[in-house]
Amino acid sequence: MSKKDFFTYQAQTTPHPLALEVSHAKGSYVYDTDGNAHLDFVAGVSACSLGHCHPKVVGAIKAQLDEYMHVMVYGEYVQKPAVEFSKLLSSLLPSNLNTTYLVNSGTEAMEGALKLARRHTGRSEIIAAKNAYHGNTMGSLSLMGLEERKSPFRPLIPDIRFVQFNNEEDLIKITEKTAAVVLETIQGGAGFIVPKNDYLEKVRARCNKVGALLILDEIQPGFGRTGKLFAFEHYNCTPDILVIGKGMASGLPVGAFVASKQIMADLKDNPKLGHITTFGGNPVIAAASLATLKEITETDLIHQTLAKEKLFRKLLKHPLIKEIRGKGLMLAPIMQNEDVADYLILEAAKKGLILFWLLFEPKAVRISPPLTISMKEIEEGCDHIISILNGYRPNTVN
Ligand SMILES: Cc1ncc(COP(=O)(O)O)c(C=O)c1O
Repeated sequence: MSKKDFFTYQAQTTPHPLALEVSHAKGSYVYDTDGNAHLDFVAGVSACSLGHCHPKVVGAIKAQLDEYMHVMVYGEYVQKPAVEFSKLLSSLLPSNLNTTYLVNSGTEAMEGALKLARRHTGRSEIIAAKNAYHGNTMGSLSLMGLEERKSPFRPLIPDIRFVQFNNEEDLIKITEKTAAVVLETIQGGAGFIVPKNDYLEKVRARCNKVGALLILDEIQPGFGRTGKLFAFEHYNCTPDILVIGKGMASGLPVGAFVASKQIMADLKDNPKLGHITTFGGNPVIAAASLATLKEITETDLIHQTLAKEKLFRKLLKHPLIKEIRGKGLMLAPIMQNEDVADYLILEAAKKGLILFWLLFEPKAVRISPPLTISMKEIEEGCDHIISILNGYRPNTVN
């Protein structure tokens, strides 16, 4: 295997991938093929909640591999890992979120949620937020709140309207025609924007008034990242449909949408097979999800998240950092300008610290480490960040 083969045979997503050649990964570190350790402040973009190859997750996967891997499409056979995960999740959620549909990725979970909302309400209009990101399949892409990224792929699905996140005046756009309002509980790609002034409560009230469903996308903030199991718990607002993924299986491909039994029933009848998937609920991935959820909820990890946030905020003080957005271990230092952000991310990569960009906010630097990161590792990484910023000179990006 070589880097050249990566560029030759594997489809590329940008003209300039980071192209780190991975040997293995463990805990908070990714190791390259030259034997260098890279401290991971990104966690596979919020996916490796328990770090790399957590022994309990690996153990659960291995045990399941010895039993069975795939026996039937989703929804026909009773497969213990999927049932146990769905049952445990339901016990941890508000009572209306008691039925889980397991799928293969975040974007597929969003597709399922959109179909369910249309089917349940008999309405077609979907309201999403400007600068939102919900995935890359055609339905999720239609909700993307940045026209320049989606216009080359039009026509997309019709009947989508946009509101400005945190803008109460826009709530009037939610009407009796609206099937669902789809929001990230904390906007990710936009720059880790948290809801302000009881915004989500107000959205919830407006949805109740006009009979629209509220879909919250917790693919990124979910599973303990913000100091609660799900971020909506901070904001006194329970969705009708909860969309989850990423950190759920601590590094395996996964997604799910959760609703009440009554709403979810609309996918099984009239027409039956309203949403189907071959691999959704895959037993190996469900076993990893169950082990992850148990570890997150049976330890002090969620609580520690807030102490870790405090440490990041204390250490990341520098004239080039203008503010730090986000919550818990979903933090985005906002740099003086885009050039500083690029410099920091690329210099950090050379010095063994993994940082990354956010989709729509070029001044932001992503910090979304494993929940298991230690205080010492946070100190080590933040020291690197400060020393790199101290060495910044305008226009030094190479
Ligand atoms: C908020 C949010 N929604 C949806 C998705 C899409 O998930 P996936 O990449 O698993 O399809 C992502 C992924 O980055 C996300 O952050």
